[in-house]
Amino acid sequence: MSETAAEAGRRRTFAIIAHPDAGKTTLTEQLLLLGGAIQIAGAVRAKGERRRTRSDWMKIEQDRGISVATSVMTFEYAGQIFNLLDTPGHEDFSEDTYRTLSAVDAAVMVIDAAKGIEAQTRKLFEVCRLRDIPIVTFINKMDREAREPLELLDEIEKTLALDVTPATWPIGSGRQFAGVYDRAHETLRLLRPGNEQGGERDEKVTGPDDVRIDALLPHGQGDALREGIELASVYPEFELASFREGHLTPVYFGSALRGFGVKHLLDGLAQFAPSPSARAADARVVEPEEEKLTGFVFKIQANTDLQHRDRVAFLRVCSGRLRKGARLKQVRTGKSIPVNAPLFFFAKERQVAEEAWPGDVVGIANHGVLRIGDTLTDGEELNFRGVPSFAPEILRRVRLDDPMLAKKLRKALDQLADEGVVQVFRPLDGSQPVVGVVGQLQLDVLSSRIQAEYGVHITFEGTSWSTMRWVAPKEEGPQDRAALDRFLRSAPSQMAEDHDNEPVAFFTSDWGRRRAEEEWPALRFLSLREQH
Ligand code: G4P
Repeated sequence: MSETAAEAGRRRTFAIIAHPDAGKTTLTEQLLLLGGAIQIAGAVRAKGERRRTRSDWMKIEQDRGISVATSVMTFEYAGQIFNLLDTPGHEDFSEDTYRTLSAVDAAVMVIDAAKGIEAQTRKLFEVCRLRDIPIVTFINKMDREAREPLELLDEIEKTLALDVTPATWPIGSGRQFAGVYDRAHETLRLLRPGNEQGGERDEKVTGPDDVRIDALLPHGQGDALREGIELASVYPEFELASFREGHLTPVYFGSALRGFGVKHLLDGLAQFAPSPSARAADARVVEPEEEKLTGFVFKIQANTDLQHRDRVAFLRVCSGRLRKGARLKQVRTGKSIPVNAPLFFFAKERQVAEEAWPGDVVGIANHGVLRIGDTLTDGEELNFRGVPSFAPEILRRVRLDDPMLAKKLRKALDQLADEGVVQVFRPLDGSQPVVGVVGQLQLDVLSSRIQAEYGVHITFEGTSWSTMRWVAPKEEGPQDRAALDRFLRSAPSQMAEDHDNEPVAFFTSDWGRRRAEEEWPALRFLSLREQH
């Protein structure tokens, strides 16, 4: 086996998807503790991001080094290298999350045992499904009052249309939570009393009928567990192929706060999560073990150094070995990009790496040359697809106080669109640009950054539009192309070009959008676009 194949085989690149408050931050810390990347719990962030106020976010934007450091967390466990890609906790930044999911090979879905599937869980799951990302489920907060395991499993199965295999079965919940039964290993994993971190011990039993179970558990819990194990057997057996295709999820129960059940989860990831697999590019399919380097940029982070406008582009390596000092081809422009000091991310520190392998993520500092969706190669002409843009529902017209600064504003918007801070649309009638965002907070960040970094003051004006679509001819060929031209000319004030000069249409209502779809059968109206 080549070195590249061996190194790629050791990589597990994943993200955690969760509704705010389900315990993503707490679980992240526990995973890093197990991987030896941090020494004490509470080191990642004292508070979950969702509780930050608007001014906290502004501060973070000014002090952007923090989010760079926690964007990728690398640790070693069971001989494998795990790359945990962080996703923002605030749903106003969900576009960032969608893009990050394009760079992982697996995801951990955290569910609050009292709440079950919540709105954001479902949305993020749908994004995983688009790419058939395999999902391992962690049902968290079992140390609190929880819903019945059966009810939770059924909910996952029904609302997400995903097969479930309980890998462990919980013993009680809340104050009565005593631990879990590991079905595959026929082992009881018991919670140590008190609030000890990582407080778990294993007791091997011969199966559900072992009388030792009754001796080990508080009165009555043995029978309840037997009943549970019986119920668990109605779910499908774990099947690796089905998991890898994103049809089945193994489910683990635990308490991130108590450090309980996290090792089960990590062992599950180590055993089942895939190493980097082949990726489709426009020209061909790329295998990770190929010797030539390929990768794509899924995230851009403005750096702390405002003077130099330094930005860090996050490159997911798809094949080959990235060496320090390499020159890579930016396929979009044909430019050669020097990678003199790729950044590796070990928990809170940044380190200069000597080399990176498929599945790894490295930071490349640049002065705004790289943008989201860029493919970098050793020279080959190919583009990875799959970094998504979603049709934003908040559309605002940018108003500039000083018209003399129009050129500066254009540059600012272009650069911030490259970074994925907002989507920018330029109306075909030449009027002021329109920005599209998922949440209000993005607008706040946009105007404060344009002010701080470019010295331009802007405000936003409401529009009557509630949605937009990318418009494309249904078939390649002159007829549908001509239809697109006619459509764009039919109402130029409602049409625009996006950052990549692709045509878009704005609509004031869903009804209006559906009517356009009916009236223009030669066109496709897309709510999602994959960048290239
Ligand atoms: P998030 O990143 O998904 O938003 O969640 P985070 O980890 O910040 O957890 C949200 C709250 O839930 C925190 O409590 C955290 O301590 C608690 N929590 C997480 N996992 C568990 C668990 O397994 N059991 C219990 N009982 N609680 C858990 P908080 O009081 O809101 O905040 P904090 O001040 O403790 O940070």
